[in-house]
Amino acid sequence: MSQIARRIKLGLMLQGAGGHMNAWRHHNVPADASVNVNWYHQLAHQAEDAGLDFLFVADGLHINEKSLPHFLNRFEPIALLSSLASVTHRIGLAGTISTSYSDPFTVARQVASLDLLSGGRAGWNVVTSPLEGSGRNFGRAHPQHSERYRIAEEYLQVVQGLWDSWEDDAFIRDKQSGVFFDASKLHALNHKGEYFSVAGPLNIQRSPQGQPVIFQAGASDTGIALAAKTADAVFTNARTLEEAESYAHKLDAEARAQQKPTPGIFPGITPIVGKTEAEAEEKYRYLLSLLSLDDALSYLGRFFDHHDFSQYDPDGPFPELGTLGENTFRSTTDQIKRLAKEEQLTVREVAYRTTLPKGEFFGTPEQVADTFIRWVEQGGASGFIICGPVLNEALEDVTRYVLPILAERGYWQQDDRTTLRERLDLPVRENRYAGSTEQQLTHAG
Ligand SMILES: Cc1cc2nc3c(=O)[nH]c(=O)nc-3n(C[C@H](O)[C@H](O)[C@H](O)COP(=O)(O)O)c2cc1C
Repeated sequence: MSQIARRIKLGLMLQGAGGHMNAWRHHNVPADASVNVNWYHQLAHQAEDAGLDFLFVADGLHINEKSLPHFLNRFEPIALLSSLASVTHRIGLAGTISTSYSDPFTVARQVASLDLLSGGRAGWNVVTSPLEGSGRNFGRAHPQHSERYRIAEEYLQVVQGLWDSWEDDAFIRDKQSGVFFDASKLHALNHKGEYFSVAGPLNIQRSPQGQPVIFQAGASDTGIALAAKTADAVFTNARTLEEAESYAHKLDAEARAQQKPTPGIFPGITPIVGKTEAEAEEKYRYLLSLLSLDDALSYLGRFFDHHDFSQYDPDGPFPELGTLGENTFRSTTDQIKRLAKEEQLTVREVAYRTTLPKGEFFGTPEQVADTFIRWVEQGGASGFIICGPVLNEALEDVTRYVLPILAERGYWQQDDRTTLRERLDLPVRENRYAGSTEQQLTHAG
């Protein structure tokens, strides 16, 4: 292998059969992949053996009959990742939890537990829940976009504060003397803010990586501001290098303004790889054949809180939607509206391009490897999260055909480090109280 120039970091999005909404119909996957634990174990092993850095699980809190098949019946992320933790050793485990519909004490405890039981491999993808219907499952009003982000910011302060409840050398556990812990190294949080009142301390110690890695998914200006302030890494929805670069510039500027390091940037990608371009085209056409127009219209509609796009002429111009979408997946709906306008697309074209984009990660292994390198070299990505379209096929194509080319060119190598922070080149997060306390030993009692 040539000298390593820059190791591209890679994650795998575990979402049933894959990001293609009808991936469950693919001839080469189990139709019940979303709730098939053996399927996930197999993918996790494959990803770990290939040297991928982390597994990533997205989530949602509201479904209806128009939801994507995978969303209708799937595992809660931390439960799934806990199962995967016990059958893997090096690969990171990042799960999505919403700050709009959960309690910081519970989430701090769950993610810290995953982190400790996996030996420091946990990450939390912080989301704010885009869909209005989520509120009806929790008996509360769905907060507006900007308020969701204000809640998220305070929520993160609480969780990260709780994660420092115990200094790293707090537990003495001396059987002889009966001293279990050093009370001076136990810290209550006593947080009282606009949205949360949490005393602490948390009833679990820190892991070898100090604190779990914080991912953030949300790409509006408010989302970017939160990411710059609080996240170690971001999961993004850039479709083109141009969009990825523009996002990266904004994130970089925000991070500089906050005097923080720029978080790692991980666009979700759906590579379609063939030995020849014609083979990639054939794969694309097969994937397209699994989608009806109604499916694609539902997929598109979900981003706009399940707006019914079947009411429009599919071959007419994409409608003027005004503010629709601003309170849901704002960054994504802005992107869709922009694309439709710039390229003068019909409803049908927008629906299919949103549901099954061909994208820049399409073609021969060489072409796809070039795209990986171009995105990283131009600053649009630190790495990627492989989201499909069909998971086993995309993982196999990337690991078997693309990674050897990246290794040859100095952009890939196996990495045996075991904490997620190490794998993402992030420093251990020091305990905020470290070194500030005097010993005060406490016996078990
Ligand atoms: C790339 C990306 C991935 C997201 N993943 C999730 C998810 O798994 N679960 C969720 O509830 N919301 C998810 N969101 C939604 C955001 O958390 C947020 O509620 C919504 O997008 C509005 O934020 P934005 O306009 O800043 O993107 C995601 C958003 C983006 C852009």
